[in-house]
Amino acid sequence: MLNSFSFIVSMDLIRSMPKHKRIVNEWDAGADSWSDFVRQGKDFFRDELNNPGMFHIIGNVTGLTVLDVACGEGYNTRLLASKGAKVTGIDFSKKMIKSAKSQEEKDSYDIDYYVLDSKDLAMFTAESFDLVTCFMALMDIEDYDATISEIARVMKNNGRFVFSITHPCFEYNSTSQTLEKNPKYFEARSEKVPWNMERLLEPFETTSFHRTLTDYSNTLCKHRLLIRRLFEPKPTKNGSAKFAPLEHVLMTPHSIIVETVKNSYSRNEDHEECLHP
Ligand SMILES: C[S@@+](CC[C@H](N)C(=O)[O-])C[C@H]1O[C@@H](n2cnc3c(N)ncnc32)[C@H](O)[C@@H]1O
Repeated sequence: MLNSFSFIVSMDLIRSMPKHKRIVNEWDAGADSWSDFVRQGKDFFRDELNNPGMFHIIGNVTGLTVLDVACGEGYNTRLLASKGAKVTGIDFSKKMIKSAKSQEEKDSYDIDYYVLDSKDLAMFTAESFDLVTCFMALMDIEDYDATISEIARVMKNNGRFVFSITHPCFEYNSTSQTLEKNPKYFEARSEKVPWNMERLLEPFETTSFHRTLTDYSNTLCKHRLLIRRLFEPKPTKNGSAKFAPLEHVLMTPHSIIVETVKNSYSRNEDHEECLHP
């Protein structure tokens, strides 16, 4: 475990790296803490809010080929496999994938994991997946245009891409543990995300990318992914009764789930129609 001095030194070292390397290193540095957080049931935003919503939208996956993009240590990848899908998980963090693979050795869900940046999925042939998922990660992916383009390429026609992101209209204030209106909604920017809750083994810091709902919608349209459903999940009764930050989510959304369908025949030849006036 790192003491606070080692944490500051290691964060300073990571901050001095070139941008892309720095972002990968941030996730590598947080991987042990993240795996413990997720596996020990400490991530109540996942268990009592986002996963119930995502799996409701995803529906039955029995027999489907699924690609889980930015799968982290693989908690949700395993859930998909346990529900009968043939799943492949990719993440650019070697440490996350190492953690996922070591759990796979114990569980034998027949999941294939690869260390891969989501902007280049060239190792997968076109139209090979029925479903692509991306759980709470697209806002952490720097090149979301290339990522969505690659996702669309590897999806079968009429296949689905389902993803969840933090709701860009609101910001989580980790000190007050409340959601506040985003004061700079229209300003595209990268932001530091401090992971410093007491329930983490040790703190870490990552980078995320603020984009508007219009940015996401335009990019999906550009790559012929039609939005079928939007869903702003509310916490479970158990979650909102047990965890104060979730009670707040009864009033203000924390995340948004988007279900899209690939339709090669949709009219967007010149991409112009995807752009708002
Ligand atoms: C908030 S975590 C979510 C992990 C996982 N989906 C889950 O629900 O547990 C975000 C993940 O995105 C991954 N990530 C960020 N940018 C990426 C990229 N360009 N390519 C692949 N993975 C990326 C990080 O390594 C991290 O594991």
